[in-house]
Amino acid sequence: MTGIDDLPVRDELRGKSPYGAPQLDVPVRLNTNENPYPLPEPLVERIAERVREAARDLNRYPDRDAVELRTKLAEYLTKTGRHEVGPENVWAANGSNEIIQQLLQTFGGPGRTAIGFEPSYSMHALIARGTGTGWIAGPRNEDFTIGLAAAEQAIAENRPDVVFITTPNNPTGNAVPAETVLALYEAAQAAKPSMVIVDEAYIEFSHGDSLLPLIEGRPNLVVSRTMSKAFGAAGLRLGYLAAHPAVVDAVQLVRLPYHLSAITQATALAALEHTDTLLKYVEQLKSERDRLVAELRAIGYDVTASDANFVQFGRFADAQEAWRKILDRGVLVRDNGVPGWLRVSAGTPEENDAFLDAVRELKKEQSA
Ligand SMILES: Cc1ncc(COP(=O)(O)O)c(C=O)c1O
Repeated sequence: MTGIDDLPVRDELRGKSPYGAPQLDVPVRLNTNENPYPLPEPLVERIAERVREAARDLNRYPDRDAVELRTKLAEYLTKTGRHEVGPENVWAANGSNEIIQQLLQTFGGPGRTAIGFEPSYSMHALIARGTGTGWIAGPRNEDFTIGLAAAEQAIAENRPDVVFITTPNNPTGNAVPAETVLALYEAAQAAKPSMVIVDEAYIEFSHGDSLLPLIEGRPNLVVSRTMSKAFGAAGLRLGYLAAHPAVVDAVQLVRLPYHLSAITQATALAALEHTDTLLKYVEQLKSERDRLVAELRAIGYDVTASDANFVQFGRFADAQEAWRKILDRGVLVRDNGVPGWLRVSAGTPEENDAFLDAVRELKKEQSA
């Protein structure tokens, strides 16, 4: 039977696997850092209304520059990010994965490299591969913080074109202090200069503030965001960036014309009208996240401090086996391949209770 490797695919794609968290049909799914709360009914109604309006114009291409949406995203950022931005600072795409892809198409590519400090979000490396950008796995400390000296050295030695800093980091959950980001930005400018992408997919769940103000006076620094997590709209596929207007101009060189459908723009605009309601769930999830951290520690697990809507816990002699045993109890968590550790997303209080029961039993079984 013909397989991928029988086709004339690019050499660097041969033998590789696609990204994919298992999508299993189990009672409690806490494996993809989604928001567990469905959109509130008045918002569902508003989406239907705005989509109906947009449908009347579907014979036309959508607003290629998504100006209304970028204006509303800029208002949201200004309101929550302690820094004023306008639509000229903001660009939107189909999920922050597409934002990252456009950034790598623009600033990475064949003959260029990107660095990330691992373990971190695995799609950074996969999108690098897809765009022909060389990938450098930078170091982290044992406790999953970024060690400044080692990270600066990796940047100085490799002189990457793109530097990824994920804060709060996925899958470990910890945030990166602003001073570290600033020091790495300076190191990256001294080495190349290169673009620094601060991936803030989970920032709304953080105990600390967004690093948005750092874009001021730093044209090579980009903050990447998403509506998939805090806005509870993973199915919408809407990501965005904030940066110097020159960055927004630069990604125009690679974006597909009309990449953001009229339906997506209408739906995102409806969701942004309901920002205050949606962000109320964030507070609830933050307190559930803190409860998971406290209870996991009380049960006897090691837990990485979390500023995200998920928690990394361990340590297991065999994380894969532990993952399977938790699954046998009806709860799906994530094995990100970090030896000894698993990750659980904060769900509803009931889902979190089910998870805590499962890992309590597992602890008993493993210490018996
Ligand atoms: C750190 C990080 N960045 C970006 C994304 C991508 O999000 P989306 O493409 O849904 O906006 C994720 C999703 O899990 C993530 O964990």
